[in-house]
Amino acid sequence: MSMKNKEQLSNLDWFDRAREVYTPNVVPAPLLLERGQGTRVYDSEGREYIDAIGGIAVSVLGHAHPRLVEVLTDQISKLFHTSNLFLNGPAVELALTLKEVCFADRFFFCNSGAEANEGAIKLARRYQWTQGQKSKHHIISFNKGFHGRTYGALAATPQPKYHEGFAPMPEGFSSVDYGNVEELRAVVNEDTAAILIEPIQGEGGINISPTGFLAECRKLANEYQALLIFDEVQTGCGRTGNIFAYEHEGVEPDIISMAKGIAGGLPLGVVGATSVVAEAFQPGTHNSTYSGNPLSCRAGLAVLEIITAPGFLASVQKKGQWLQSELKRVGQDVFSDVRGRGLLVGAELRPDAPMNAADVVAQARQLGLLIHVAGSNVVRFAPPLIISDDDLAQAVAITSQAISALMKSPVRT
Ligand SMILES: Cc1ncc(COP(=O)(O)O)c(C=O)c1O
Repeated sequence: MSMKNKEQLSNLDWFDRAREVYTPNVVPAPLLLERGQGTRVYDSEGREYIDAIGGIAVSVLGHAHPRLVEVLTDQISKLFHTSNLFLNGPAVELALTLKEVCFADRFFFCNSGAEANEGAIKLARRYQWTQGQKSKHHIISFNKGFHGRTYGALAATPQPKYHEGFAPMPEGFSSVDYGNVEELRAVVNEDTAAILIEPIQGEGGINISPTGFLAECRKLANEYQALLIFDEVQTGCGRTGNIFAYEHEGVEPDIISMAKGIAGGLPLGVVGATSVVAEAFQPGTHNSTYSGNPLSCRAGLAVLEIITAPGFLASVQKKGQWLQSELKRVGQDVFSDVRGRGLLVGAELRPDAPMNAADVVAQARQLGLLIHVAGSNVVRFAPPLIISDDDLAQAVAITSQAISALMKSPVRT
């Protein structure tokens, strides 16, 4: 292998190389992606794929979107790091633009979803502390939820498999079943600093919160002077057909975390909060070297400019509905449920289906479609929001072919 030029390396050669030098927690598919255009990506052997996962719900504008290329080329030739010791235009403008499109008045920029949740949890505790509520530090989250892998975000992610071997976890976290008002009511008390919830659980299997549940969370938080935090890392930035998923229910939180799609593929996380709550983050309380990175923020501005253009979000809703109905049709023999909102869609495999979600994902990849698993047995679609009707139809056709191939020769993993 070492005798080969880089150009001669196959996907599998690259895979072997990566496995030697990556830490073993990173297990990529044996596929080296070299370039992308729109919703299509190309591997090192020249094969083309429809990207219907978008780097895990990130590439909202697809690949090499002309507007992103234009603004990033401009920005990278001018200035791409300052730290927030100084001002930079894109960061200030992005905060001003976010203020126009969501409930929050103040924004802190970071680099990822986990970091945004870390900031949100710290802000909630610090807010209660500034109110003289020193013991009000408890964070309540929801079973099957996912908030990230740093210690605070992980403590709020009540999935034992992610905690194993990492004890001791930070204190002051507990969880209840998603959508269960009685359980939540039994746990919220004077010590509750915040309720932390995804309006739709992404990693947990595309579980939509039951209608009225977010309102119940809001009510209980108000009753106990706790804060409400929405984790919109996966559901934000147009993914569900509104800018934020909370808009579907008309319930506003006190704090929001965003990441993934916000900068269309550049690393960017955001903590947004009401001005009253944000006051708790005084100088020195929280920060990050890359906070407000001009390149990421410039990308964020381009993303917001495009997803807020007239008709854009309506098209996301329409495409999402079409995707759901088509998946129900082509997967009627193997899917027990197809659910989601906008272009965040999950298709759950029947327990007795002769294949698992992972098998469908692997088979689809062989046939030229990139999708992913969510939860224990759900096939997840989170394509770029700019996906064309033709590419979406092609994605469904390949899914159908993958299911047929697996029905003929079951390989259940
Ligand atoms: C809802 C939610 N919150 C937080 C995270 C963590 O984000 P990141 O991987 O950028 O740290 C994820 C990632 O999947 C997520 O889906």
